Amino acid sequence: MTTNSERIIIFDTTLRDGEQSPGAALNIDEKLTIAKQLARLGVDVIEAGFAFTSSGDFEAISKIAQTVGTEDGPVICSLARAKKDDIKAAAEAIKPAAKGRIHTFLATSDIHLKYKLRKTREEVLSIAEEMVAYAKSFTDDIEFSPEDAGRSDPEFLYQVLERVIRAGATTVNIPDTVGYITPSEFGALIKGIKDNVPNIDRAIISVHGHNDLGLAVANFLEAVKNGARQLECTINGIGERAGNAALEELVMALHVRRQYFNPFLGRDVNSESSLTNIDSKQIYKTSRLVSNLTGMSVQPNKAIVGTNAFAHESGIHQDGVLKNKLTYEIMDAESIGLTDNQIILGKLSGRNAVRTRLKELGFELSENELNKAFVRFKEVADKKKEITDWDLEALVNDEIQQAPDLFKLELVQVSSGSNAQPTATVILRNPEGEELTDAAIGTGPVDAVYKAINRVVNVPNKLIEFSVQSVTAGIDAIGEVTIRLKYENKIYSGRSANTDIIVASAQAYINALNRLYGAVLNKKKQQVTA
Ligand code: KIV
Ligand code: ZN
Repeated sequence: MTTNSERIIIFDTTLRDGEQSPGAALNIDEKLTIAKQLARLGVDVIEAGFAFTSSGDFEAISKIAQTVGTEDGPVICSLARAKKDDIKAAAEAIKPAAKGRIHTFLATSDIHLKYKLRKTREEVLSIAEEMVAYAKSFTDDIEFSPEDAGRSDPEFLYQVLERVIRAGATTVNIPDTVGYITPSEFGALIKGIKDNVPNIDRAIISVHGHNDLGLAVANFLEAVKNGARQLECTINGIGERAGNAALEELVMALHVRRQYFNPFLGRDVNSESSLTNIDSKQIYKTSRLVSNLTGMSVQPNKAIVGTNAFAHESGIHQDGVLKNKLTYEIMDAESIGLTDNQIILGKLSGRNAVRTRLKELGFELSENELNKAFVRFKEVADKKKEITDWDLEALVNDEIQQAPDLFKLELVQVSSGSNAQPTATVILRNPEGEELTDAAIGTGPVDAVYKAINRVVNVPNKLIEFSVQSVTAGIDAIGEVTIRLKYENKIYSGRSANTDIIVASAQAYINALNRLYGAVLNKKKQQVTA
C-alpha cells in the first residue's frame, strides 16, 4: 500500500458497511459485479465483507479476492472483531488476493467498555495489542479501528493507537461510529493523534464516519487537512443507519477544490495532479449499479449523482449557463461520466452491436448474461424506437440482479379505469414448477397486482416503499420500479425495469418476495439441521 502522503487512499466499504443498510443485502454474484466496478472506478481498497459473520460473506470475500484482487488491482480487505476466530476467518477469506488486508476493531469509548464489552481500559489495551499481533501472523497489511473513537477519551485513544502500531498495525482508522462529532472536533482529534502518538509515522491515519447529523463528508475533509490519508466511504453514502461518508462527494470535493487542499498534502497549490486514484468518469455508472443492485434509490437532489445534480431549473440560471457554464456550474456533468444520453441502438441492431456497446459502457457479461440481455433488448426495441445508453444499462442491471429464482412471473393482466374497480390476474410458477393462477381487486392496478401475487406466494409482508422512476424522458420511456418489503423486522428489496410499469411493478415485487422467501427457506433449513 502506498504511503505517499501526497495522495488520499480511497477505502470503499460499500460491500461491508454499505451492505449493513436495512434491505441492502446482496448475494455473492451481485457483490462480485459491484467489486469489479469498484476496481474500474479505481478504489485503492475494497472492504469486501465481514468473513466470520456468514458463509455467504466469507465466500463473497474469497471470490472477490480471487477475481478482483489481482497484482495491479485493489487491496481486498475483510473486517474482523478483535477475536481469534474472526481474524482467522478474515485471513482465510482474503488469502486468494495478491494484496490482502485484515481490518480488526475493538471499542474504546467508556460507554462501549462499560455497557457493551464490560471490560476495563487495561483489558482493552492488551486485547487490541494481542489481536493485532495475531492478525500480523497472517499478513503484513493490518488495519485497526478503535470503535466509537469519536466519543473516546483522546488520552486513552493515544495509548491504544501506540500499542497497536507497536504490534504491527499499518493503518489506524478513527471511526465516528455514531455520527456524533463535528468537523472542527474531528480535525482536532486527528491533529491530537498526530501530535501525541509517538510512533504514528509508522501508520497511515484513516477515517470512518456515519452521517447521523449529515456531517460525515465535512468531517472527513477536516480530517484530511489535519493528516488523515485514507478515507473510508461508500457509493451513494449507503450504510448503517444514516449511512457513511459518500465516496462521490469526497472525491469530487477533493478534485474540484484541489487548489484549496493541495497545500495540506504538501503539494504546490496549483498542482493539477489528482488527489485520489479515482477515475471520476466511472462515478455515475457505479452509483447506478449500486442503487440498482441494493434497491436503495438515490434522492434526486443528492450531491453529484442525484438526477437533479446538474439540472438548472431557474430561467436566470439557464440563461447564465447558456452564456457561459462557469456562471452556475462548478464541475462538468461529463467529469462523473454523465454523458449526453446518446441514442445508439434500435430494433434493427444486432447482437454484436449490443455486445460492443455494453462493453464500451463497461459491462463484462458472460455469454449467458449477454443472451438474456439481448432477449430483453429485442423485447424493448419492439416497443420503443430508440434505445439509449441509460435504457441499456437499466435492462442489463435488471438481468444481472440475482434475486433467487423461486417464483417466476408468467403473466400479469390488469384492467382499470376511471369507472372500473382495478382488477388483476397473475400466473406464477412456484419453485416446484407448478403454474398457479389467482386474481384480486385493489385500490389501484398495482395494489390489485400485489394482492393477487400475495394470494399465490402467501408469505405475510408489509410493503414499506414503492417508487417508480423513468430512465429517460419521453412517453415510451422505461420505468424502473424499486420496492422494499418488511418481514419479521428485516427488509427485502426488489427492482425491475420495463416499458410497462405494471409489469415492472409485478416483477420488482416478485424479486423482493423471492429474496424474502429464500431467507425463510434458509432459516427453516438451519432449524432442521440445528
Ligand atoms: O462505524 C464503525 O465504527 C465501523 C467500524 C467497524 C470501523 O464500521
Ligand atoms: Zn461504520
